[in-house]
Amino acid sequence: MLKDKVCVITGASRGIGEAIARKFAANGAKLALIATKETDKTAKIVEDLSKETEVKFYACNINNFEEIEAVSKTILADFGQVDVLVNNAGITRDNLLAAMGKDDIDSVIDVNLKGTIYMTKAFVRSFIRKKHGNIINLSSVVGLMGNAGQTNYSASKAGVVGFTKSVAKEYGPKGVRANAIAPGFIQTDMTGALTDDVIEKYKTLIPLGRMGETEDVANLALFLASDMSSYITGEVITVDGGMYM
Ligand SMILES: NC(=O)c1ccc[n+]([C@@H]2O[C@H](COP(=O)([O-])OP(=O)(O)OC[C@H]3O[C@@H](n4cnc5c(N)ncnc54)[C@H](O)[C@@H]3O)[C@@H](O)[C@H]2O)c1
Repeated sequence: MLKDKVCVITGASRGIGEAIARKFAANGAKLALIATKETDKTAKIVEDLSKETEVKFYACNINNFEEIEAVSKTILADFGQVDVLVNNAGITRDNLLAAMGKDDIDSVIDVNLKGTIYMTKAFVRSFIRKKHGNIINLSSVVGLMGNAGQTNYSASKAGVVGFTKSVAKEYGPKGVRANAIAPGFIQTDMTGALTDDVIEKYKTLIPLGRMGETEDVANLALFLASDMSSYITGEVITVDGGMYM
């Protein structure tokens, strides 16, 4: 479904980003994978996927504008072009607002929202130039419905929705699509810190009665990255077992 499309994926060292990378590789994409630093885990992912496709890893902190500008130039030089950008990297710093520190607010907005904007800005000119580009942003159901204890995170993810729609309107006429995926509760390190009690409570709010798998999100990312979704832009699609409807 993605034969020879060059796809950039942030936060590809684990969780949803890793699942998207593996799914895209299995569907013929060439991959530029980004995470904060190179580790044994990222080396293993690159080693695995190199058996199927061309894949390169780039260490980059996506809340650093200059680092992103530099890495985007390197990626464009290495691959010649980029077709799909998946802004997946994200963090949580959960607390009640009254108890939340300034750094908890700033870091979540910096990575989740500003990082998504910086990354998109870094590639959008190349998309305009070839009149083709496809942006997939990871939002969250809590950006749509809110969640006590996640005021910083939900604000960042609601921001991603507004940003996605604006990019879709601004660059649709130039052949660029932008859509957002809003996952519900997906089993990753991010949700691994939740206690069993909290998980059981959340499950009662999910009609399908279970947490999602990273592959559930990767399947939607594959569809959005492929030409099967070529008339879809500015959408926010939930992958949440019916939690938010
Ligand atoms: N897991 C869930 O239930 C869930 C639900 C809704 C939305 N999401 C969103 O999906 C995305 C992936 O979530 P996950 O559960 O796989 O998270 P995760 O914590 O397992 O992985 C996050 C990834 O982002 C990278 N990252 C973090 N900060 C970075 C930075 N400054 N620069 C570059 N890379 C950075 C990490 O290295 C890692 O690869 C996030 O945007 C998250 O907010 C997750």
